[in-house]
Amino acid sequence: MNDRVGDYVARLFAPEDEILMSLREEADRTGLPPISISADTGRLIQVLLTAISARRVLEVGTLGGYSAIWIARVLPHGGSLLSVELEPRHAEFAARYVRRAGLDAKVEIRVGRALDVLASLDGERFDAIFLDADKEPLPIYFEWALRLVRRGGLIIADNALWGGRVVDDRVDDDATRGIRELNRRMATDPRVAGILVPTHDGVAVGVIVQ
Ligand code: SAH
Ligand code: DHB
Ligand code: MG
Repeated sequence: MNDRVGDYVARLFAPEDEILMSLREEADRTGLPPISISADTGRLIQVLLTAISARRVLEVGTLGGYSAIWIARVLPHGGSLLSVELEPRHAEFAARYVRRAGLDAKVEIRVGRALDVLASLDGERFDAIFLDADKEPLPIYFEWALRLVRRGGLIIADNALWGGRVVDDRVDDDATRGIRELNRRMATDPRVAGILVPTHDGVAVGVIVQ
């Protein structure tokens, strides 16, 4: 998709309010990495969560809380987002913006390594998981997702196109290999019905079918 068409979609379907704009501005100014999801990805996730009436969502990789705010805004009264973040500085920034957005009753940010937190959640049930942290362990996160998300629920992963590196034969690093393997499983694992939506940096979506 070229920039003009992408801008058209984002401006029509995913306008940012003052809180999201201010979050991105302050994140840039204070040196948080500029790797939040795009607004159109945020809107895509909202539509998907709304379609399955999601109440309980798990996010892996909070950063400054930008995606968490998109997600929490479509959760019903009593719904919740648990978001996992390794870096205390990111978690503190995110908690401040979640509060500003009036979403602190719905969002819990847990500081820790994703693998540890996922293991600690064994036995719990979520309607959807959003994978947006480190890329090398994505195949392991995918297996946890199948344990933690209910049938009919969603596995959603950002960066499925990885700036085009997934199709560049010269690229063979651990992160790219992790993303390629996640995409392969989303495409072929009989336990999910998957697709890669080429929004922004690519969003892989799988519905758990068994
Ligand atoms: N979802 C966010 C962007 C996440 S960027 C948004 O769209 O707003 C990736 C985040 O994952 C970073 O904040 C990074 O610190 C965190 N991260 C990286 N490896 C991690 C791990 N093993 N466990 C938990 N968080 C991790
Ligand atoms: C990067 C981008 C992401 O969206 C992410 O979740 C992790 C890393 C990156 O460009 O390095
Ligand atoms: Mg990402």
